Amino acid sequence: MSAAAGVILAAGKGTRMKSRLPKVIHEVCGVPMVELVARALAGAGIQNPIYVIGSGAELVRERLGPDQRYAIQAEQNGTGHAMKMAMPELAGFQGLVVVTPGDTPLLDAESVALLLTKARETGAKAVVGTFLVDDPTGYGRMVRDDQDRPIGIVEHKDCSPGQLRINEVNSSIYCFDADLLREGLELLRNDNAQGEYYLTDVISWLASGGHRVETVCYPDARVFMGVNDRWQLTEAAQILRTRILEMHARGGVTIEDPGTTFIGLDVAIGEDTWIGPGTRITGRTKIGEQCRIGPNSIVNDSVVGHECVVLCSCVDRAEMQEASRCGPFAHLRPRTVLGPRVKIGNFVEVKNAQLGAQAAVSHLSYIGDATVGERTNIGAGTITCNYNGFGKYPTTIGDDTFVGSNSTLIAPVTIGSRSMVAAGSTINRDVPEDALALGRARQEVKEGWVKQWRSQKSETEGS
Ligand code: UD1
Ligand code: CA
Repeated sequence: MSAAAGVILAAGKGTRMKSRLPKVIHEVCGVPMVELVARALAGAGIQNPIYVIGSGAELVRERLGPDQRYAIQAEQNGTGHAMKMAMPELAGFQGLVVVTPGDTPLLDAESVALLLTKARETGAKAVVGTFLVDDPTGYGRMVRDDQDRPIGIVEHKDCSPGQLRINEVNSSIYCFDADLLREGLELLRNDNAQGEYYLTDVISWLASGGHRVETVCYPDARVFMGVNDRWQLTEAAQILRTRILEMHARGGVTIEDPGTTFIGLDVAIGEDTWIGPGTRITGRTKIGEQCRIGPNSIVNDSVVGHECVVLCSCVDRAEMQEASRCGPFAHLRPRTVLGPRVKIGNFVEVKNAQLGAQAAVSHLSYIGDATVGERTNIGAGTITCNYNGFGKYPTTIGDDTFVGSNSTLIAPVTIGSRSMVAAGSTINRDVPEDALALGRARQEVKEGWVKQWRSQKSETEGS
């Protein structure tokens, strides 16, 4: 079975999006819609599709990266013209070419695979994906002969009154024989209502030339939903979001409130994990089993081990190892690594810091550019002063150390294992192992001082 090639037509501007960005890179569930189309193709075994780009080509290229195959359609003269621009990339290619629009984010791999199967099984030179609609306004109609064989697609604006009543429409997803497609594209003319070169005309050319044309009529039209404005973008995202939530739920994850839960396409979650309301999990996040994530949490591009808890917190590009927990109201920033059973409590911010097993920072602290040993306890209000306005400096704290509340640790500084820092200390020199460090003004007590002061005041100033 020879590999099929893929072409994604994505040169249109998408005026109705009312956007600075070209339509096809607007995101649905965190992925540009044109990439979702490419993923559907990949799922059906079609790698490295050719993107036909035009409007905002540079922005599309920037978003999808330089390693993709691109063809430029400088002027949008129709889908047939766009397809023609892709053909030089397919020079010498023989076999099947799957063509899709770039604005159908709900397209799935199964639908693409059905087209390929049909083409391979029947030997058809073209297979058109179609679906039935109550109101076919705007779509190209699938026209058949008296024996029900497909003979062409007629665009809405070119339809006869009889054809306007046809409710089987073109999804704009096709599979073609490459050689015949090449030939047919050369013959296209633009003498139609829109003055465009229609890719759809290749179908009638094939059929009239006696080549076999087949259709796959899909039962679920939503798969081909095209996005033309922001509300359709929202609707598509809603459908995809629900699909993703359902996939996780059926995989053993409890989603308490699907209405307020957002999970990105590339997120993995283990069984028996509970996802609370108001929670957003994005990027390449991986979450283990038996976790509690949420309510009201954001987890992005992070790795969370088994039995972890994220309660009303933000976790961004961080790692939480088994049974560690954060929140409520904690912020784990990039390059944070919490070892097993680490506890990060309320109003704690951690950045670029590694905390050993069972370390605890329970209240109101900032730990940045730091290494904290196992079982070390950091008291409330402790701050690592990692920045002097010019550079960032590290703080290193050993195992089984106790840092008293409201300590200020001025980096670079090292605090040895099993040592203690007295509450309220400002530490700017290293503390050796097993030592006690006091870095605060010594307390003075003046016995009876206030009593005397008060009585003096009442004599001179009256009470
Ligand atoms: C197209 C089909 C129509 C089908 C409908 C389904 C044609 C002539 N018509 O119509 O039969 O029912 O899709 O939604 O193909 N594009 C380019 N360059 C161009 C024009 C379009 O790259 O010059 C791209 C667009 O970016 C889009 C895709 O082709 O991704 C489809 O274009 P669009 O204008 O939406 O096609 P329709 O007129 O809706
Ligand atoms: Ca059009």
